[in-house]
Amino acid sequence: MLIFKNTRFFDKVINNIPKRSFKITAARNHDSLFVHRDTKENNLDVKFEFTPENLKRAEAILAIYPEGHKRAAMIPLLDLAQRQNGWLPISAMHKVAELLNLPKMRVYEVATFYTMFMRNPTGKYHIQICTTTPCWLRGSDEILNCIKSKLNIDVGQISEDGKFSLSEVECLGACVNAPMIQINDDYYEDLTVKDTEEIISELKADKKPKAGPRSGRYAAEPITGLTSLTEEPYGPGFGVKSDL
Ligand code: FES
Repeated sequence: MLIFKNTRFFDKVINNIPKRSFKITAARNHDSLFVHRDTKENNLDVKFEFTPENLKRAEAILAIYPEGHKRAAMIPLLDLAQRQNGWLPISAMHKVAELLNLPKMRVYEVATFYTMFMRNPTGKYHIQICTTTPCWLRGSDEILNCIKSKLNIDVGQISEDGKFSLSEVECLGACVNAPMIQINDDYYEDLTVKDTEEIISELKADKKPKAGPRSGRYAAEPITGLTSLTEEPYGPGFGVKSDL
């Protein structure tokens, strides 16, 4: 082994290594805590029961799955509980575990993995804004600032009247229509700041804004018109030999 005793040699080597600066993006924390903490509204003393109608629904959901595979009904049952309550308290998770005859931990694992399950109270209108790269490049920061200032809340907060809550989320799978937000079950896409203001004003008046792209597009087709498949499709049998 070669041992360099000459520290000046090392200095020379180190000084000749090209210097590169490191850049990091700002750390962003999620607005949800992924462990349970007892709160006034979410603790084991706050009981949860399915309503008689939802209990029938739960039984119908369970009937879809064969014996030995009932646990596959977990997500639909958690969704049912969330729709009944508006969000998913820990006692609702326990109810689902009881229906499925599973350890509670199996339900916690699922409910904490999927961010669609709201484990804390939300507003009547829960706004989820996507700030992942395609939406960010198309102006999600401006949309987020508009929502914050119109509602006077920050990410992770509920408005004073309890009507709105705001979450910042990762890609919601509508990148071609970026920037976009999800409000409860609806997507609002191709947004401008003006569109966002209109949507919030309508919701404040408890009107239902038209969901979907706001740019006039029907879906995710090219905004300047079709670039392919512009002709009438050929009928059946096109290109098939006549003697076949
Ligand atoms: S990046 Fe926003 S929906 Fe995909």
